[in-house]
Amino acid sequence: MIRHLLSVSDLDRDTATAVLDTATRMADTAGREVKKLPTLRGRTVVNLFYEDSTRTRISFEAAAKRLSADVINFSAKGSSVSKGESLKDTALTLQAMGADAVVIRHSASGAPHRLAGWIDGTVINAGDGTHEHPTQALLDAYSMRARLGRVAGLKVAIVGDVLHSRVARSNVHLLHTLGAHVTLVAPPTLLPVGVDAWPADVSFDLDAVLPSSDVVMMLRVQRERMTDSYFPSEREYARRYGLDAVRARALPDHAIVMHPGPMNRGMEIAPEVADSARSTIVEQVANGVSVRMAVLYLMLGGLA
Ligand code: NCD
Repeated sequence: MIRHLLSVSDLDRDTATAVLDTATRMADTAGREVKKLPTLRGRTVVNLFYEDSTRTRISFEAAAKRLSADVINFSAKGSSVSKGESLKDTALTLQAMGADAVVIRHSASGAPHRLAGWIDGTVINAGDGTHEHPTQALLDAYSMRARLGRVAGLKVAIVGDVLHSRVARSNVHLLHTLGAHVTLVAPPTLLPVGVDAWPADVSFDLDAVLPSSDVVMMLRVQRERMTDSYFPSEREYARRYGLDAVRARALPDHAIVMHPGPMNRGMEIAPEVADSARSTIVEQVANGVSVRMAVLYLMLGGLA
């Protein structure tokens, strides 16, 4: 059983597969008239979000509520964090309130790891800086499996701002664990130092990679994390690394297009591709709830 989910490296192949299988069962309950399971009645889940989020925060909230947990949503805005309270003091406050699980998003890589040292409950990383976003990688793997029937053996292209992407980092490692083959496609300026040591190939040529991809995962260009100029212009970026309708035609018929959201429509992905039948973008959001239910169920139920 794993106590915290800080990184996808906490998950071996069997544990990750158990999460995906449990998520499938959770998705079945969503089809029922009564959407709630009593499993986590009396348990408290705190969503501690220091960074903006739409999908992930709502998804964890929906997941915890469907398992009948009590949910406390904490956002740094409007809390004593704006008075300068440290993460540690906030953690001790949550501890005193009896949080069984804390779901944390923070702009500092490593913040969830620090938190885990200060509280007794389970810590789940919902995105830390440019480091990791394990539940996103799990829901992405789940979405691939739902559409294509498997993860092992798939060829997955992850395209764009890899440098700033915790989604890419978590996906590369989880997909490797699950037996998929990943190619990162990005301009050299948007690849992290040390990428050679990742279990993935690297290409600078999107057109060369598309015809043999089963999955193409587009990443958001994260302007809020850019301190420098990484490409000449938005048009130039879109021309070389954007997925438009013409480019998408080079994909095999069965191939799917993914994006974790939020999208810059017209930049990394054209609207007609984002809204096409290949796109799993809306499914990814729905699947996220089932996957987070599975994570909470297994971790708080002591079954993972
Ligand atoms: C991602 C994130 O916050 O890391 N979004 C998400 O969780 N769905 C990706 C992004 O912000 O581009």
